[in-house]
Amino acid sequence: MKIKAINGFKDILPDEAVRWQYMEGVARDIFERFGAREIRLPILEKTELFARSIGEATDIVEKEMYTFPDKGITMRPEGTASLLRAFIEHGLHVQQPVQRLYTIGPMFRHERPQKGRLRQFHQMDVEVIGASEPRVDAELIAMGRMLLDELGISASLEINSLGCPECRPGFRRQLVSFLKERRDRLCRDCDRRIDTNPLRVLDCKNPDCRSQVQDAPSILDALCGPCDDHFAHVCRNLEALGVAYSVNRFMVRGLDYYTRTTFEFITGDLGAQAAIGAGGRYDGLIEQLGGPALPGIGFAMGMERIALLMEQQEVARPGPRMDLFVAALGEKAAGHAFPLVHQLRRQGLKVAMDHSGRSLKAQMKQAGRVNAAHTLIIGDNELQQQEAILRNMETREQETVPLQGTVTEQAHSLARRVRDNS
Ligand code: HAM
Repeated sequence: MKIKAINGFKDILPDEAVRWQYMEGVARDIFERFGAREIRLPILEKTELFARSIGEATDIVEKEMYTFPDKGITMRPEGTASLLRAFIEHGLHVQQPVQRLYTIGPMFRHERPQKGRLRQFHQMDVEVIGASEPRVDAELIAMGRMLLDELGISASLEINSLGCPECRPGFRRQLVSFLKERRDRLCRDCDRRIDTNPLRVLDCKNPDCRSQVQDAPSILDALCGPCDDHFAHVCRNLEALGVAYSVNRFMVRGLDYYTRTTFEFITGDLGAQAAIGAGGRYDGLIEQLGGPALPGIGFAMGMERIALLMEQQEVARPGPRMDLFVAALGEKAAGHAFPLVHQLRRQGLKVAMDHSGRSLKAQMKQAGRVNAAHTLIIGDNELQQQEAILRNMETREQETVPLQGTVTEQAHSLARRVRDNS
C-alpha cells in the first residue's frame, strides 16, 4: 500500500516551486524596499498565545487549531501572534521605536480542504509595530497592492474600520439587539454567534443571513471621533498614493485582535476562497500579550492562492532551466567531459550530463527534457581535433568550439560563449 500525504497537506512539486521562488523573491524585495527586515519564527507555540490574541470565541481557536493538549502547545494558525510574542520576548522595541518585520512560512488550520483552502498553507506576513498614524496604514496597504501588481495579479481592495474599545461596545449592543429581533431567520451558527461573537454574523456566507443583515447598523456610523478621523485619513492617504479601494462595512475579519483599519484583497477567480491577503490594525494587542503599549498593523498574503492565480494568469512561466547539457559520445569523451562539467558549474553555469552512455538521439531528448538552453556535443573524433559542437537549442544553430588548454581554460571560454549566446 502506497502512503499518501494527509488530506489538506500538499506537496509543491518542482515545476510549481519555480513560481513559489519567484513569488518569494518579489515579496522579499518589496518588503525590504519598505524597510522591513526578516524574522524567522518557530512553528509551535504555547496554545495560550493564540487564545489570548486571536480570541477564544473565533472559529480558528474554537475548532481549527492543531493542538497537543497534553503539552499545551499548538501549531501556529497564523503569523502575527508568534511575531509579536518574539517582538516582546526580545524587547525589539528598545532598539528602534518603529519596527517593520516580515516572516514567510507555513501555518496550520483544520478547515475543510478545497481549492485554495488547505490545512497546511503558507503566508507572507508583514507587521509595522510602534506607529499609529493613518499614513502608516495607507503605506502598508499600498505595499500589499504593489506586491500583487508586481506579481501580475489583479485583485480589488476592500477596507473598513472596526473602531476601538471606546466605540465598539456601543456598536456591539446596537447590533445584538438588531440581530435578536431576527434570530429565528439566522443560521444555527449565527444564532450562537449573537451571544459569542455578534460581529461575525455580518460576514456570514449563508444567503439567508446575508439578506437579514442588509439593514443592520453600520459600524462606520458608530465610530468615536478619533476612530472616524483616523479612517477618513486612511482613505485620503490611499487616494494620495493612487490606491483604489471600496469600503465594505460588513468586513469584520475572523480574528478578534483588530481595531480600526481592516482590509482584504479580493479576487473573483478562486471561487469561494476570495481573499488573497488580509490584515489590519491591532492597537492594544501587544500590551494584552504582556508587552509595551505599542500600536501595530500588518497583513498576510496567502501563498497558495497567489500561486493558483499566477498559474491561471500564466505569470512566471519557467524559462530554460539548465544553461547547458553536455552530450558525451563514447567513454573517452565522457572521461573528458566529466571534469569539464564540474569546472563549468564552478564558473556558475547550470550544467547537466548523462552518465549512462546513451546514444546521441537519446541524449538530445534528455537535453530537451531538462529544458537546456544549449547542448555541447563531444565525440571521440571531435576530441582528437580538440573541439566540440555547441548547439543553441532554441535557434538550432550549431558552431564548432575549441577545447584547448587546461580544463579550467576550456570551461572559461565555453562559459563565456554560452553566456554571450543566451
Ligand atoms: P487571515 O485573514 O486569517 O489573516 O489570513 C490571511 C490570508 O491567509 C488569507 O487572506 C488567505 O489568503 C490565507 N489563508 C488563510 N487561511 C487559509 C487556508 N486554510 N488555506 C489557504 N490560505 C489561507 C491572518 O492570518 C492575519 N494574521 C493577518 C494579519 C497580519 N493581520 C495583521 N497582521
